[in-house]
Parts: sequence; structure tokens; C-alpha cells
Amino acid sequence: MNNLFITGTDTGVGKTVIAGALAAVLKKKGIDVGVMKPVAAGGWDDARFLIRAAGVKDNLFLVNPYCLGTPVVPAVAAEIEGVKIDIRKIKNAYDALSKKHDMLIVEGVGGLLVPIYRNYLVTDLINYLKLPVIIVARPGLGAINHTLLTIRQAKVSRIKVLGVIINNYDEANAGIAEMTAPEVIERIGKIPVLGIVSHIEGADTEKGFKALVKEVEERVRFDLIC
Ligand SMILES: Nc1ncnc2c1ncn2[C@@H]1O[C@H](COP(=O)(O)OP(=O)(O)OP(=O)(O)O)[C@@H](O)[C@H]1O
Ligand SMILES: [Mg+2]
Repeated sequence: MNNLFITGTDTGVGKTVIAGALAAVLKKKGIDVGVMKPVAAGGWDDARFLIRAAGVKDNLFLVNPYCLGTPVVPAVAAEIEGVKIDIRKIKNAYDALSKKHDMLIVEGVGGLLVPIYRNYLVTDLINYLKLPVIIVARPGLGAINHTLLTIRQAKVSRIKVLGVIINNYDEANAGIAEMTAPEVIERIGKIPVLGIVSHIEGADTEKGFKALVKEVEERVRFDLIC
């Protein structure tokens, strides 16, 4: 079974909640899913959320080998904090978790061109781990440009994109931009939109996350993921 890398068009688009919900749904389908956040900048929240969402008991330091305190791109945070990020340590944790689980969902950091360490980018890590990606995107104005830029960069970096998940869709207030973006992204990006996930109040709380998992289960094309 393919491991997956979850990237986004930007920071704060919902990579963590979508990665967690995908893990939860796959677990419901009987797949033993592990999670990983190789590098975080700003704290352990993402790794803790992913661990809870997937219901795994893996060690926090294996799931998140590098957790920097400064909420800026990891390359800058590492420099400020005097941390040397060793990609082999990430690979070792990745290999250990891959062995333990049928499938691994790996959350990126920011978007594709975020520097992890010096000039080593998220795209370099994806290539090193040889992972296909899912792009999480916002629903409204700007989504087309940001998503097509991300798809184009993936192509330039020879990264396989399985599809786009549009997240945080507010149906009641959706305008022309929200309603037309998925079709335009598919047509120009030549990449399928795997699903459109609604805005769910309190998506990062236990109750809200349950609703989000249901939403992801019903609306995301799992047949195109694995
Ligand atoms: N579908 C949704 N409905 C409601 N809230 C959402 C939804 N998706 C994400 N959020 C909220 O938006 C915020 C950002 O989401 P999240 O942390 O998953 O983004 P991210 O892309 O992982 O960010 P980062 O780049 O910091 O890792 C969180 O507070 C999360 O609960
Ligand atoms: Mg996150």
C-alpha cells in the first residue's frame, strides 16, 4: 500500500486535520495507518493531533523527529535555535514507522517550496521518501492560482500528485469563486479534485473532528488514493 504525503497550497489550509481525518477513515476501513510530521516549527500540536486522530501509540519523537519552537520556516527556526536537521534521522524514523504500519500518512510543513534545512526544500524530502502527494487547498478566491502553482511545482520536481482536496468549504456562503474553482483546477491542472470538505465548526475538537471524519469518509474519493 502506498504511503502518502499531505502538502498544502499554504500554511494553515488544513493539512493536519485532513491528514488526521484520512488516517481515521482508513483505520475504519481496517487499514493499520501510521502518521508522521517529520519537521514542525512552532510546537508538538500537529504530531499530537495526528497521533490521536490515527489512534496510534507511536513515540512522539518518532512521529515528529524535529520539533522546533520558533513558528517560522524550519530552515530559519533551525538556524535561530542552533539545530542541525539531519535528513537521515527523518528517514530512519520514516522507515521504522513504515515497517510498523501498513500505510503511513506524512504531513508536510507549509507548502512545497518551504526550506527545511538551509536549501533543502519540502520537495527534496518528498523525492527522498519517494512519496505521492495530496494537495490540500482553500476553497475561495486565490485557490486556483495557489493550487495550479503547487501542481506545476510538483511537476517540475517530478512529484506525483494523486489529487487535490479542497477544504473548509462553506456551502451557505459559497460564491462564484468557490463554486467554479474545482472544475477550473481539474481542467487546467489535469489533476482530479478528490473531494470538497466542508467547514466544520471546531474541527480540531473531539466532536468537530468526528463530524469532519464523517465528511471526509463521504466526500473524498478513496478509490483514487489507495
Ligand atoms: N474543514 C474545516 N472546518 C473547520 N475548521 C478547519 C477545517 N480545516 C481546518 N480547520 C481549522 O483551521 C486551522 C488550520 O488547520 P490545520 O492546522 O489543519 O492547517 P495546516 O495546514 O496543518 O497548518 P500548518 O501549516 O500550521 O501545519 C485549525 O484551527 C483547524 O482546526
Ligand atoms: Mg499542520
